[in-house]
Amino acid sequence: MTPSSISQAAAPILTFAVPKGRILAEALPVMARAGLTPEPAFHDKAERALSFGTVEGATRIIRVRAFDVATFVAFGAAQAGIVGSDVIEEFAYSELYAPVDLGIGHCRLSVAEPREGYADRPGNASHYRVATKYPNLTSRWFERQGIQAECVKLNGAMELAPLLGLSGRIVDLVDTGRTLAENGLVETEVIMPVSARLIVNRAALKTDRRVAELVDRFRRDAERQGEGQAEDRAA
Ligand code: ATP
Ligand code: PRP
Repeated sequence: MTPSSISQAAAPILTFAVPKGRILAEALPVMARAGLTPEPAFHDKAERALSFGTVEGATRIIRVRAFDVATFVAFGAAQAGIVGSDVIEEFAYSELYAPVDLGIGHCRLSVAEPREGYADRPGNASHYRVATKYPNLTSRWFERQGIQAECVKLNGAMELAPLLGLSGRIVDLVDTGRTLAENGLVETEVIMPVSARLIVNRAALKTDRRVAELVDRFRRDAERQGEGQAEDRAA
């Protein structure tokens, strides 16, 4: 046994966090190319376990809600994971480092309002009520424009808020724009473009060689995918 394999054997298994919802399908092939293939039970809908081994054996994969991916990694309970840049920016955890844009999970964070406009509060144009899952990004965005936004935190179905008079505007993710259109809303401003990133815990990156190796594998794959897409465009 070499000194490095001794320390490797003694180190606790690495934990990699993934969001359980819509990013997952796109993330799985990226993870597989980086040597993280979940064991078959991961794909079994009846399975109640939340933590899974990998075919490659060296890492455990946990499946949690998107916002919780950032929290597990920031606190070092998981050393790395995949999450949208919307979540990274909303938390702005200093312990998180997001070294690789994975080129998946593209959408945007936008302001939307009813198609026919909305009279917020007559005589008080500098005070908006906004329903959102992203209160930090939302207040920052409106603050920069000198508007005080009162954020009502919702966890989903934001589009209902203006329809039912809960708020004048919403800040939510938009991809095709279908959900907005079907609920009588229009996108008025784009706050930020969003894509999924590899995130790592900064301390783990400094102290655990395996985390740096993981970053390298994801980075090399993202570069290869980028080159492939450039060639496709040129053809
Ligand atoms: P939740 O906590 O809402 O249940 P989740 O754990 O199911 O979320 P996912 O659905 O896997 O999480 O991921 C949500 C992420 O998907 C968003 O943070 C965003 O980065 C990305 N995303 C990409 N396209 C869209 C879209 N059209 N709508 C919402 N999120 C999108
Ligand atoms: C997301 C987002 C919008 C919708 C945008 O919701 O919150 O509602 O997708 O996509 P579109 O522009 O292509 O219509 P999701 O389906 O993830 O459900 P949620 O409301 O539970 O977050």
